[in-house]
Amino acid sequence: MIRPFAPADLEPAIALWKRACGLTHAFLPQDFMDTVEKQLRAGGMNEASTVVFDDGGVRGFLTMTGNAINDFFVDPDHQGRGIGTKLLDHAKAGSPELHLSVFTRNTRAILFYDARGFLVVKRRHYPAARNEILLMKWERPQP
Ligand SMILES: CC(C)(COP(=O)(O)OP(=O)(O)OC[C@H]1O[C@@H](n2cnc3c(N)ncnc32)[C@H](O)[C@@H]1OP(=O)(O)O)[C@@H](O)C(=O)NCCC(=O)NCCS
Repeated sequence: MIRPFAPADLEPAIALWKRACGLTHAFLPQDFMDTVEKQLRAGGMNEASTVVFDDGGVRGFLTMTGNAINDFFVDPDHQGRGIGTKLLDHAKAGSPELHLSVFTRNTRAILFYDARGFLVVKRRHYPAARNEILLMKWERPQP
């Protein structure tokens, strides 16, 4: 089930984030990862901004600011089973348009978003991460 984040989810979610990043974001510098972890711990994940997918444990989470998706991760042991699509559909249901940034080196995630209606808006350098990102946008189709 998808439910709002609760404070007790913080450590499981951080552990999940580290496992997932170890596989897909190993190209990112450690100082950048440390900064992101500090931000997540300092309120980046909270009851208002974050939903988790819970099936007896936290298997994934998605954080948002307004209509921007900030952090979106599924436990590597549970990827490829539809959890990410459910979390993304939940975000789509709550907003007529969504924005996100994804590292250009994260090819699988780009394909995931592309297959779910996101279009590339622009490409730019992200100095703190010393990498390129794509800005992507989804708009709810008109009926
Ligand atoms: C991208 C991610 C959130 C998708 O969640 P998921 O639960 O694996 O996704 P689903 O099972 O709903 O869908 C599987 C789809 O995701 C794609 N995918 C992307 N990254 C994947 C991964 N590491 N493992 C498995 N599938 C992945 C598959 O190719 C598949 O695409 P398709 O259905 O269009 O053929 C998840 O794989 C993940 O956490 N990846 C690592 C972190 C990341 O890149 N987050 C996005 C940062 S912008």
